[in-house]
Amino acid sequence: MEEKEISQAVISRLPRYFRYLSELKYAGIERVSSQELSDIMKVTASQIRQDFNNFGGFGQQGYGYNVEFLHNEIGKILGLDRTHHLIIIGAGNLGQALANYVNFERRGFLFRGLFDNNPDLHGKKIRGIEVQPMESMEMFVKDNDIDIAVLTIPKTEAVTVAEQLVNYGIKGIWNFAHVDLNVPENIQVENVHLSDSLMKLSYNISRFELDNTK
Ligand code: NAI
Repeated sequence: MEEKEISQAVISRLPRYFRYLSELKYAGIERVSSQELSDIMKVTASQIRQDFNNFGGFGQQGYGYNVEFLHNEIGKILGLDRTHHLIIIGAGNLGQALANYVNFERRGFLFRGLFDNNPDLHGKKIRGIEVQPMESMEMFVKDNDIDIAVLTIPKTEAVTVAEQLVNYGIKGIWNFAHVDLNVPENIQVENVHLSDSLMKLSYNISRFELDNTK
């Protein structure tokens, strides 16, 4: 059977479903209806059913969904049923902050290595992980089954470093540098721009003010 292409809009909503289902699961709740999910998540029940129908529906409506099953299935779709091994390139403010955040590990994202081209940082440990020189990166990626690289370096450096990473066999790049990377189609890139989120917030503040001064 030919696999149906799922829209990126649906995919981008899955992590939020996953988070809410994790909470329900840890609260010991076994069943949830699309209406109950809709109430806690503030999305319509029909949106939830439509999203889930992309994956076969995950169980009958009316009777509700089995929380653990739904949680596991969405986790599998998101590739969270396996461990990902990450390295961070750029051990500055952002790179260190990400390395210090422990909760990624709960989802199976393990930070294995930190790399920087500033010799003053080499040997410095963040949560037990030593910052290494860039020259060690190739061997490290190959020896440690690294599949994801996190780029927290200046944008002027990011394109070249991304090309190196591709040659070393990386599968995905979590790119915080504000530049479009030039990588082959088989390499997955997720660009993160916190300022986009801030601009959206700013827009909503302006819109609210405008609506309320009418
Ligand atoms: P930072 O200056 O504190 O850290 C950058 C680190 O990269 C430094 O330790 C530097 O030695 C290292 N570096 C520079 N060139 C390198 C190379 N070729 N190879 C290896 N390491 C190299 O900067 P900060 O604040 O941590 O920001 C890092 C990057 O993330 C910047 O590009 C910044 O614009 C971006 N950023 C993106 C955000 C987002 O939402 N996407 C939010 C904040 C920062």
